[in-house]
Amino acid sequence: MTEKRRSDILILGIETSCDETSAAVLKNGTDLLSHIIASQIATHQKYGGVVPEVASREHILHFREVVGQSLKEAGVDFQDLAAVAVTNGPGLVGSLLVGVAGAKALAYAAGVPLIGINHLEGHIYANFLMHPELEFPFLALLVSGGHTHLVYFSGHGDFDVLGHTRDDAAGEAFDKIARALGLGYPGGPQIQKAAEHGDAFAFEFPRAMLEPGSLDFSFSGMKSAVLNTMNSARMKGIELSVPDLAASFQQSVVDVLVRKAMLAQQNTGAQTVLLAGGVAANALLRRNLAERLEERGVKLLYPPPALCTDNGAMIATAGYYHYLDRDFAPLTLNAVPGLGLA
Ligand code: KG4
Ligand code: ZN
Repeated sequence: MTEKRRSDILILGIETSCDETSAAVLKNGTDLLSHIIASQIATHQKYGGVVPEVASREHILHFREVVGQSLKEAGVDFQDLAAVAVTNGPGLVGSLLVGVAGAKALAYAAGVPLIGINHLEGHIYANFLMHPELEFPFLALLVSGGHTHLVYFSGHGDFDVLGHTRDDAAGEAFDKIARALGLGYPGGPQIQKAAEHGDAFAFEFPRAMLEPGSLDFSFSGMKSAVLNTMNSARMKGIELSVPDLAASFQQSVVDVLVRKAMLAQQNTGAQTVLLAGGVAANALLRRNLAERLEERGVKLLYPPPALCTDNGAMIATAGYYHYLDRDFAPLTLNAVPGLGLA
């Protein structure tokens, strides 16, 4: 694919890995000309979680409109683009395929390079959109519905995964507990809201730290402890306070995330820490981690909530840095549902 010469670098970013159809046009890595997100939350809410088959159909229904709207709002013709960047994994295979196939068609029709973006990298790069001056090295705590990773970045594409969850992801735990509490989907924002009126120390749930020095995570024991507390109260006919349960659970997840991030900061000496992924929208996590890092004089950065959850702007931003490196994908690019950070 020939690369077109132009002064402004316009990247179209496309995200369809789960239940948001999103597209954004980014100019020169910093100027977000448009950002459209068609959320499927209302569709999946009645099932209590994302139904993969429904998600891919919804992407098909909305893809053209979302991409068309993003180009229109940006005032850009698709032939003005420098490249098309798309999430090609990890995620739901049917959902990913809609974005990948659409992006390939657009890149081919416009005669511009295609760029495949790892969704996890995309989440982290939302921070570059907010802070283009961001310098390496930094430590990233990536906390989403599917992943919980501590990653040390030395440069673009140069990183080490220091730890990850051995069972549930942090967001997954939020979603499962919210469901058990009858709070609906997605669970994180609902738990955060219910917790506002609760006592975070009403219940003591286990904080699994694993072996000494381990930077891995485990949330399944904590999740079981909450469910057991609820079940035994129910059997005894005792009604527990939902806000107290939500607040105590949220505090235990945040405690583990903060302790592990602090340990990773100490081990690496990183002077900048980033939060990324849907759970990075959590106000308690932001506040508690910022306080602890401040004691060490370490800076904490995080994107605004709308750029923490899935969005096309983060994919366009990661795409911009791949573009500068001339890291293009062939038109045979495929969806890789289990794509890792390696
Ligand atoms: O990054 P994301 O949009 O999708 C994945 O890549 O997985 O993350 C979605 C996850 C969900 O589990 C959702 O419950 C969680 O992020 N989440 C939150 C908050 N907002 C979204 N968790 C805790 N507190 C929040 N405010
Ligand atoms: Zn995500």
